Amino acid sequence: MCGIVGYVGHSQALPVILKGLHRLEYRGYDSAGVALLDAEGKLNVYKCKGKVAELERHLEGKDSFGTIGIGHTRWATHGEPNDVNAHPHFSESGELALIHNGIIENFRVLKDALIQNGFSFRSSTDSEVLVNLIEYIRKTNGCTLAEAVRIALKQVVGAYAIAVIEKGNPDEIVAAKQSSPMVIGIGKDEYYLSSDAASIIDYTNEFVYLNDGEVAIINRNNPLHIVKLSGEDSPVDIKKLELSISQLEKGGYPHFMLKEINEQPQTILDCIRGRISPDTGEVILSGILDNMDKFLNAKRIIIVACGTSWHAALIGERIIEEFCRIPVEVEYASEFRYRNPIIHSDDIVVAVSQSGETADTLAAVELARKAGAFVYGICNVIGSSIARATDSGTYIHVGPEIGVASTKAFTGQVTVMAMMALVIGKALGTLPEETYLAVSKGILGLPELIAQTLKMSDQIADLAKIFTYAHNFIYLGRGYNYPTALEGALKLKEISYIHAEGLPAAEMKHGPIALIDAEMPTVAIATLDQTYEKTISNIEEIKARGGKIIALVSRGDDLARRSADYCLEIPQTVECLMPILSSIPLQLLAYYIAVYKGRNVDQPRNLAKSVTVE
Ligand code: M6R
Repeated sequence: MCGIVGYVGHSQALPVILKGLHRLEYRGYDSAGVALLDAEGKLNVYKCKGKVAELERHLEGKDSFGTIGIGHTRWATHGEPNDVNAHPHFSESGELALIHNGIIENFRVLKDALIQNGFSFRSSTDSEVLVNLIEYIRKTNGCTLAEAVRIALKQVVGAYAIAVIEKGNPDEIVAAKQSSPMVIGIGKDEYYLSSDAASIIDYTNEFVYLNDGEVAIINRNNPLHIVKLSGEDSPVDIKKLELSISQLEKGGYPHFMLKEINEQPQTILDCIRGRISPDTGEVILSGILDNMDKFLNAKRIIIVACGTSWHAALIGERIIEEFCRIPVEVEYASEFRYRNPIIHSDDIVVAVSQSGETADTLAAVELARKAGAFVYGICNVIGSSIARATDSGTYIHVGPEIGVASTKAFTGQVTVMAMMALVIGKALGTLPEETYLAVSKGILGLPELIAQTLKMSDQIADLAKIFTYAHNFIYLGRGYNYPTALEGALKLKEISYIHAEGLPAAEMKHGPIALIDAEMPTVAIATLDQTYEKTISNIEEIKARGGKIIALVSRGDDLARRSADYCLEIPQTVECLMPILSSIPLQLLAYYIAVYKGRNVDQPRNLAKSVTVE
């Protein structure tokens, strides 16, 4: 969703901002803009609908000098994507320019009050209301910009990360955040600002993560100063981030998604590194071990997540219940937060989120904390809002995921939840030693089996050609692989725009089988597990009605091969880890179909990588 980049220092701001905005493109956006303050104090704003490349063309020949500036990529919420609604927004007088990520929920009330005070508006955005509110307060109170921002934000209901610059104030950016990410990079007599540390990692590895309700006064001549909305000073806590630039580039692949799919042998290795002893198979997860009393006494675990992370959570639910015998509920974070859920102090709420910024998951975390539950995070992005808002957690450590379609994060999330279940189950005594060892050995063997699975890439590319023109797909799975079927369907629909539905295989005869004809292909996951024979029967029922079957089967399984029209053979591991292997051909199938359809694989229409608004 919206991206923010800012710079104040002694170099030209524009190249820094444009490079940062390019790095944020993966998040999804529909317009872009910059505001620059030049040495004479002139405030120039340039913005347009479309990609950052269009903004670059729009900037050609324009006065774009300035060692202080802010830039933005907008994902439309209020008002259509067009030049006027693009950020930055000028205040009425043209003295302030603001960029905003988030939603101001009470913008209508604030706007009406400003109109009564003589303000008029050019755009349909909530953000323009905010910049005018700041201007109004600045003028009526005769206070500093930072003070006006602080007072204005006390009147705002909603989510925001903002940055404001002002004519005649050439050394300072004022930034603030509430429920939307904002990080300040520390340089030498210079500062960087971004909604994602990765976008400014070229310049510094020292960051200050702004907390909710904080306003930062970022002045090139002074140390960073942060105040709370209440006016008290906040500590400036500088953190070091180790991230290599090569992780943010495509490395020879045509798309980030394909790179990330192919990285999975390595990302799973990174995820388990130092956590499972190759000699003894012992699993050590410090986040769990340090809080073992909570897990030993938990009456229930509630997992909250969205999208792909929700699918991973469904697999986690099955593994934790099987190994730990603790009841687990999996909730869409967006539903959980609004339904007055029953949360007890001996419940554990686990939040699963790749980005660690998903607004609904973050809100669910806050709700759970208020209710007194112990909250555990499973995130990928280090220092993200959810990682910081939870009591403890485990990072999946799969590296930056840039493609909007989540791939390596999904397999990392399932791996972490399997390791969690092993640690907790062992401590509870609910898990036989041989199962513990078989699964931990299974996890150690995943990188090799994933590498073998990836060798099917060409075969899947050929298969994808046959099905590129299908209008609908059904994905079937049972047990551990039912969530994999949901995930396969989500991958296909989000990047190819083909309608796809994931179902538990046995549900077909309760209605969906009516959809089956020669035009409705079914992807059936029929690997060797508890319900294997039953899934084969489900496949036969579809075949009998003229449906085409692509079956995902265990290597060497001839029975399944005979039942299917097309067969994809994957290696076998312990049952609870099979989704990690079976999801990979489904990622590749979705990828190749989307490529053949000419889709924008890494940035599919209407989608954003980090869903920081509700
Ligand atoms: O960053 P998160 O894991 O919290 O994101 C949740 C979903 O928005 C995300 O998984 C989404 O469904 C993916 N684009 C699917 O590939």
